[in-house]
Amino acid sequence: MQEKVNSIKEKLLKKLETVDNLSSLNDLRVEFLGKKGSITELSNLMKEIPVEEKKAFGSLLNTIKNEATELLNQKKEEIEASLLDAKLANETIDVTLPGTKLSVGGTHPLTKVIDEIEEIFVSMGYDVVEGPEIESDLYNFEKLNLPKGHPARDAQDSFYITEEVLLRSQTSPVQARTMDANLEKSPIRVICPGKVYRRDDDDATHSHQFTQIEGLVVDKDISLADLKGTLEILAKKLFGEEREIRFRPSFFPFTEPSIEVDVSCFKCGGVGCPICKETGWIEILGSGMVHPNVLRGCGYDPEKYTGFAFGIGPERVAMLKYGIQDIRSFYTNDLRFLSDFNRVEGGE
Ligand code: DAH
Repeated sequence: MQEKVNSIKEKLLKKLETVDNLSSLNDLRVEFLGKKGSITELSNLMKEIPVEEKKAFGSLLNTIKNEATELLNQKKEEIEASLLDAKLANETIDVTLPGTKLSVGGTHPLTKVIDEIEEIFVSMGYDVVEGPEIESDLYNFEKLNLPKGHPARDAQDSFYITEEVLLRSQTSPVQARTMDANLEKSPIRVICPGKVYRRDDDDATHSHQFTQIEGLVVDKDISLADLKGTLEILAKKLFGEEREIRFRPSFFPFTEPSIEVDVSCFKCGGVGCPICKETGWIEILGSGMVHPNVLRGCGYDPEKYTGFAFGIGPERVAMLKYGIQDIRSFYTNDLRFLSDFNRVEGGE
């Protein structure tokens, strides 16, 4: 019996030497260990074995089964390893080849400034609201104390679609919309960023389409001091902690008094340089106390409520902050300008 087992094992070893792929290895497994395999068939001899030898035969059977299984598994691992080696050899990667460059976009400079200003006001408890770019004459002008024929309308040469509908020439109509929509006539603290349109000829400092950020606060006992404190925070956060602001009298139909706000020059600190045109001050926005007519027209009692409003030009802020010379570069999508800008920002 031992001989028979030995010859089976020898046969297996011999055949294993010639096997070089998984499919013929599997055939071999069937040949020896399958249902009708030569090792499996050995167990059929059990019944012919005398009782006293059965135990020894059983253990002999187990040994040959285990050995055969082990040999077949070993061969399988060898074949799999050589298959993997072959595959890797075929797929050699040249790590010295230059990689594919992914060009990553950056945030547009105007978006950056708008985000920054939004963040400043949101941190002071303001809501950010929006209004329509196609606006009615009523909201764009009349509710802002600019009746038809008012000379101040000339300052904003507008794109009219019909006699009563236009592309908004300012974000100020959102003030009136916000007050109108607030049916409880409760306090308001909002900013409104958005696009505005004017019939201007485009040049380095003018564009027929640009952006504004409107601000509006309405509450009891709001005073010029609140406006000044708020804008001082804005100026310092935008242009540096040492900045100071100054108020100059101005005129806007929807505010009384109306004020133009200058910030001390962030370049020269106030001594005078080309950026501030040697004055030490840079104009950054228009503002004022909300005109009683505007409050009244939007359902707020001007005897009880007062408010302040302001309008900022993000283009102007971005041009000052980043030294941009031509307003048109914001809109022409020249990647050299945009990526240059992002590089500047990355280096700061
Ligand atoms: N809407 C004005 C403009 O486009 C800017 C402005 C000035 C807005 C004063 C205001 C303000 O809210 O109080 O010229």
